[in-house]
Amino acid sequence: MLLIIRKDHRSICLYAAQQIAAEIRQKPHCVLGLATGSTPLGVYRELIRIHKKEGLDFSQVQTFNLDEYVNLPKDHNQSYYYFMKKYFFDHINIHPFSIHIPDGMAEDIETECLRYEEQILEAGGIDLQLLGIGSNGHIAFNEPFSSLGSRTRIKTLTEKTRRDNARYFASMKDVPKYAITMGVGTIMDSRKLILMATGQRKASAIKTTVEGPITARVPATIVQIHPYATILIDRVAASKLTQALKIAE
Ligand code: F6R
Repeated sequence: MLLIIRKDHRSICLYAAQQIAAEIRQKPHCVLGLATGSTPLGVYRELIRIHKKEGLDFSQVQTFNLDEYVNLPKDHNQSYYYFMKKYFFDHINIHPFSIHIPDGMAEDIETECLRYEEQILEAGGIDLQLLGIGSNGHIAFNEPFSSLGSRTRIKTLTEKTRRDNARYFASMKDVPKYAITMGVGTIMDSRKLILMATGQRKASAIKTTVEGPITARVPATIVQIHPYATILIDRVAASKLTQALKIAE
């Protein structure tokens, strides 16, 4: 596990975008795993800039998003489909059929989850997965006590995650209760992981993720045993670490 601490959110976003751009240049038909949320926004902004200014080519890239709310129409402004289009896909030359996001409106959610797993396999697996982390240590919507071997499935969101996400909805009662999410096992099958976190709100989760024992109580701790995981954090998110070894500026 490589731990990289940079001074602020902007610098970690630039670093992550460089890693993704390098992956695409080295393997133009690579498969990217993508996350939503506030943390990766700067990564998408920088990738769009690299695409526009340096010609980074997404025409052969395939993407799989980590998760999507259940029962929120695609065109709802808080659906992850809407988010990805607005902040990333509408600004690069990716083919619409290369974009994969779980369908939270599917009639048969169980079949949709199986289909998603199959699509990842058919694409050859995820080369590089971008991850955020919840303040409770969730990755994707794998909340505390999710099975560390889990696959794509429907999950009930915890009150804490619903409260964290309430800022994006008109009121708490509008925050969805369920989501389809890649499982912890699905995420761990990715060839490389980049987990990003910034700010005080993430400092405790980062301390446990990096220094704590591996436990389903904090699903992100599993990344400790991934062969190519990078934990990319700012100084504030790193502030509770006691064993930080690599400080990169
Ligand atoms: C989003 C996702 C979530 C977020 C996490 C952090 O696709 O899977 O696990 O990465 O909730 O969200 P932010 O970045 O908004 O703090």
